[in-house]
Amino acid sequence: MRVLITGGAGFIGAHVTRTLADAGHDVSVLDCLHPAAHRTDSHVADVDGVPVRHGDVRDAATVDAALAGVDAVVHQAAMVGMGVDLADLPDYVSCNDLGTAVLLAAMARHRIPRLVLASSMVVYGEGAYTCAEHGPARPAARELADLAVGQFEPRCPRCARPLEPGVVDEDDRLDPRSVYAATKLAQEHLTAAWARESGATAIALRYHNVYGPGMPRDTPYSGVAAIFRSALERGDAPQVYEDGCQRRDFVHVTDVAAANLAALNALDADRAPGLRAYNIASGDPRTVADMAATLATAMHGPAPVITGAFRAGDVRHVVATPRRASDELGFTAQVPFTTGLAEFATAPLRA
Ligand code: UD1
Repeated sequence: MRVLITGGAGFIGAHVTRTLADAGHDVSVLDCLHPAAHRTDSHVADVDGVPVRHGDVRDAATVDAALAGVDAVVHQAAMVGMGVDLADLPDYVSCNDLGTAVLLAAMARHRIPRLVLASSMVVYGEGAYTCAEHGPARPAARELADLAVGQFEPRCPRCARPLEPGVVDEDDRLDPRSVYAATKLAQEHLTAAWARESGATAIALRYHNVYGPGMPRDTPYSGVAAIFRSALERGDAPQVYEDGCQRRDFVHVTDVAAANLAALNALDADRAPGLRAYNIASGDPRTVADMAATLATAMHGPAPVITGAFRAGDVRHVVATPRRASDELGFTAQVPFTTGLAEFATAPLRA
């Protein structure tokens, strides 16, 4: 297939570009080299020989030119992470939602009926929980007063007891709790509307915490793996927030690229129109303290410090079942946690 990859020069996008090209797809890349992900003086001419068209998905003329002759789009271009503060809000909405809107309108004009969308586990907000007394529960945002005294587990909305974390699936309630999360969910909703109205097929891949070679260094937009890796490289101990027992699913970027290939192939098959979402996770959740310790050991660095500090807006545990992606896309993550982190300890990062 002739496939346009937006954001194809970024951390995840470049891995997707390589994987799709290696699989025999005729790929092209559109990337604006956004300063949140690339050095302002960087010039990326190609990704392993795939030329990079420099341009912004918010610009209709640029997108029109990039879509000529294309059969499918893999939309990775986005601003990610927690950002600096609310001053970032217009940029997140503009890059992620206006960008997706301009892209979808252009795809409708060009009658391109297939889209793979990079979404995120952040659309769930807090993961799934159970109260020993009241059963399944979806807690509200944690109170700052609780966090300040080290009460990190979300509480039952009915009896205020700490909840037991569970596993989310794709049909669970969507409850974005940050600006970034709201823009990722809006991308899904816009894509669903576009697919319904145009009869197109689309897949949203809800990435869990992606790490691996080419990850951007320590910035307000980086995930925790890059932050810890950068600290260890400076000889500093990783600073683990809360009590370190918060759980995430760390999934290797080559697995995420393989999931994109599987999704693209699934769109090629005889598939009902509309959008369907899939968790892209390793299925092997870890605590943040475990990840910090594993990386510190692999880098022969100082042991992590559990700081008790916290970020307002952080969720406690997000753990999901990867079963739907396995059943329907034939995708199962292949890189084990310890192998992936050992390799990540010495892998090149993005400046
Ligand atoms: C956030 C975003 C997510 C994005 C990811 C990486 C939200 C709600 N979540 O997710 O979409 O993919 O960032 O960009 O917008 N931590 C430390 N020490 C640090 C930094 C973080 O212990 O120095 C902890 C955090 O408190 C959190 C965990 O590590 O508990 C994961 O943080 P992070 O990598 O930022 O990812 P998420 O919060 O999962």
